[in-house]
Amino acid sequence: MSYADFYRRSIEAPEAFWAEQAKLIDWQTPPQQILDDSRAPFVRWFAGGTTNLCHNAVDRHLVERADQPALIAVSTETGTEKVYSFRDLHAEVRRVAASLAALGVGQGDRVLIYMPMIAEAAFAMLACARLGAVHCVVFGGFASGSLASRIEDAEPTVVVSADAGSRGGKVIAYKPLLDEAIRLSKHKPAAVLLFDRGLAPMDLADGRDHLAAALMEKHRDTEVPCVWLDATDISYTIYTSGTTGRPKGVQRDVGGYAVALAASMKHIFDGNAGETYFSTSDIGWVVGHSYIVYGPLIAGMATIMYEGLPTQGLDRQPNGGIWWQLVEKYKVTVMFSAPTAVRVLKKQDPALLKKYDLSSLRALFLAGEPLDEPTARWISDGLGVPIIDNYWQTESGWPILTVANGVERTPSRFGSPGIPMYGYKVKILHESTGEELTGANEKGVVVIEGPTPPGFMQTVWKDDERFVNTYWKSVPNKLVYSTFDWGIRDEDGYYYILGRTDDVINVAGHRLGTREIEESISGHAKVAEVAVVGVADALKGQVAMAFVVPRDGAVLGDSQAALALEGEVMKQVADQLGALARPSRVHFVGILPKTRSGKLLRRAIQAVCEGRDPGDLTTIEDPTALQQIRQSLASQT
Ligand code: PRX
Repeated sequence: MSYADFYRRSIEAPEAFWAEQAKLIDWQTPPQQILDDSRAPFVRWFAGGTTNLCHNAVDRHLVERADQPALIAVSTETGTEKVYSFRDLHAEVRRVAASLAALGVGQGDRVLIYMPMIAEAAFAMLACARLGAVHCVVFGGFASGSLASRIEDAEPTVVVSADAGSRGGKVIAYKPLLDEAIRLSKHKPAAVLLFDRGLAPMDLADGRDHLAAALMEKHRDTEVPCVWLDATDISYTIYTSGTTGRPKGVQRDVGGYAVALAASMKHIFDGNAGETYFSTSDIGWVVGHSYIVYGPLIAGMATIMYEGLPTQGLDRQPNGGIWWQLVEKYKVTVMFSAPTAVRVLKKQDPALLKKYDLSSLRALFLAGEPLDEPTARWISDGLGVPIIDNYWQTESGWPILTVANGVERTPSRFGSPGIPMYGYKVKILHESTGEELTGANEKGVVVIEGPTPPGFMQTVWKDDERFVNTYWKSVPNKLVYSTFDWGIRDEDGYYYILGRTDDVINVAGHRLGTREIEESISGHAKVAEVAVVGVADALKGQVAMAFVVPRDGAVLGDSQAALALEGEVMKQVADQLGALARPSRVHFVGILPKTRSGKLLRRAIQAVCEGRDPGDLTTIEDPTALQQIRQSLASQT
């Protein structure tokens, strides 16, 4: 079938189309109603069906591939490598599930997972899925402030964590960060389950903290059956940034997600049971949920979990070829990474790409940020396999724009992530009138018309109103989902993404909200006002840059004092939110550019930082404010 026909069918006959896809997974009870959008924009997929994600990712493979590799845990931080077969994975997941149940976790309870990239993190996610508990994985690079707000919102019964993570040989103790987060949070979890890697000492709180090893040993042979869940029950929430300082819990279902992932493994990633998938992302991000843990395992593939930098070997010596070494060793067929990671590798010796046998590899998928042409060409020439850009979001759970080579070989175009995937009605609308832009290369907001396909977010956790108001009401007079990305479509229907329309920035493929960073900075006693913007960066795509109005004006004329305050502000952000969110520079100004009604002109600041024309400034209250931004950039470089 041509992709055009496949796509058309998904849009014109969604029920028949998705009923067909639903056969890719196991159901305990088959779905009764494929699509229910009677309460648009809320959509219920596969209502009446019962299934379980852990069953589909693990148990069902025991029949045919119990002894095949399922999870390959590689850490170049600790120099360890371990292969778990589906049988091993099943046993470990069962033990963690029994331990969680012993700590009081039941169906619908939340379990917050704050873990480094180790096998136990995947066990914990799958254990939650097994029990019907809702997992909320928080990226291990976040610090106590970010963690606290997520604990408060998710209200977990149990938190699963570890003594420490490690990055570039530097041990990062998690337990003190977790203790501080629990202290800050109004909600207190009943118990904490801790994996001890022997990297950092842990103080255990009596009655609350439990060592996983002991509990798992106790439950070595405890049977824990998969709980059959309604397709529309909640599988997990994952927090993501938006326009406000408060992250949103993106909530996903069980059945729709399982079907969407199974379908994407077949039609987009073209991965088969018995092969190996390697995604270099982190379980703290949506790519890790969909394409480290659930997607590959549902497809019966082995999945590699990699802890470490892309430039260090298992002997912990510098090795810019470690990823390719793993591709050769485990005969990886499908690989998934981010443009930033490739830009890091570009600085290594290109001969490293030729050193290993990469003949198993069929394609490299890249997502999370715009893929620039030089990077795409460099890696494409080096690997000799198709480089497949794909565009999506935490909210969608799987690609919105790419090419579906599993359906029909479709050429990619440099600079474009591709064409709309089956199930997605993608449109480009005029920002203020909401009118559809149908001409080639007309710039507008990329939106999706409902009903959104399976796997797409159900709602914002505990906040249906926020879901509707944030995502579905941003374009005048139309109920459409806004991606908050600018885009254009060329004459052949290929889309190009031109950056965010809101205050979200993308640092090294990681999505961050500038408002969260601003809130952290404005909490500093010496800061009167602050604006944070994302500025183009050759390596990371974007970096955060802060402009601060100090309480004490003397800082402006005193470079020593300015340097000291810059250091304090950076440390405060790193301590509260994590090193990822730390601004690359903090510039000091006497006044920030605002409109007469007091709205910060972030886009104008960003334009000045990037040496572009700041555009229409008729609403600016004090035009000298931008001049100050320019001066601070010139003097503090
Ligand atoms: O701005 C788009 C950018 O990343 C945002 C979503 O980030 P996140 O929720 O972390 O999900 C990442 C899932 C891969 C989008 O709104 N983005 C993502 N992929 C691309 C992209 N921008 C350009 N090209 C892409 N391929």
